[in-house]
Amino acid sequence: MTIDKEDQLDGLKHIGGIVARTLDAMRAAAEPGMTTAELDAVGAAMLERDGAKSAPKVTYNFPGATCISIFPAIAHGIPNKQVMKPGHLINIDVSAEKNGYFGDTGASFVLQGSDRRLDALCRDGKRALWTGIRQVKVGGALNAPGVAIEEFARKHCYSLIRNLASHGVGGALHEDPGEIPTWKDLSERRRIHEGLVFTLEPFLSMGAEWAVDSADGWTLFADKRLSPTVQYEHTMVATKNGPVITTLAV
Ligand code: CO
Ligand code: CO
Repeated sequence: MTIDKEDQLDGLKHIGGIVARTLDAMRAAAEPGMTTAELDAVGAAMLERDGAKSAPKVTYNFPGATCISIFPAIAHGIPNKQVMKPGHLINIDVSAEKNGYFGDTGASFVLQGSDRRLDALCRDGKRALWTGIRQVKVGGALNAPGVAIEEFARKHCYSLIRNLASHGVGGALHEDPGEIPTWKDLSERRRIHEGLVFTLEPFLSMGAEWAVDSADGWTLFADKRLSPTVQYEHTMVATKNGPVITTLAV
């Protein structure tokens, strides 16, 4: 979606705040012994209370309100009977719609664990996202965030998942301008125009480079199951004053 009015930005910030607070609440509620379905119920209740609808559910008939992936699952995990345990690397992705506007955010974390390797990966996953966000400029290359994220990953000896892209969002969960690579892609020659609404969601990994399908038809796994992988995602609008992040829990 491309916006040019203040009330559109307000609509995007409203749903963005809802998905951000839902993600925060789910993360805070997550505890060992709980199933991912129980955690999803926490998110579903918050979305409903705030008058929002789960975007994957309304868009793709996804069997859950939110996506919860326990590594080696890295994305689109179906909330189910899987029990969360201390030390699990978990990703929660919350996207929802309200009043025709969509917000999409995600984050990874280690459940009640202190693992220096995974803690560093989570910290660096956030840094990779913000490295990309800082490159968002009206008139700039749409691949500028991807180029910067790739440089960051290389410098810190990480790999990137190369078949899970960022995307246009705002009036639908996935829309114009389609997929946006969060890695260096020489074939990506488009530019960022004013008002463009899109996500950035790099998948930073300790060796994996590909997401592979699974038997349930939804859950995506890292191609290298011993290579921890994280994702952090924000929705933003490109403005002349820089990117405005809509998915902040304010
Ligand atoms: Co998402
Ligand atoms: Co997304």
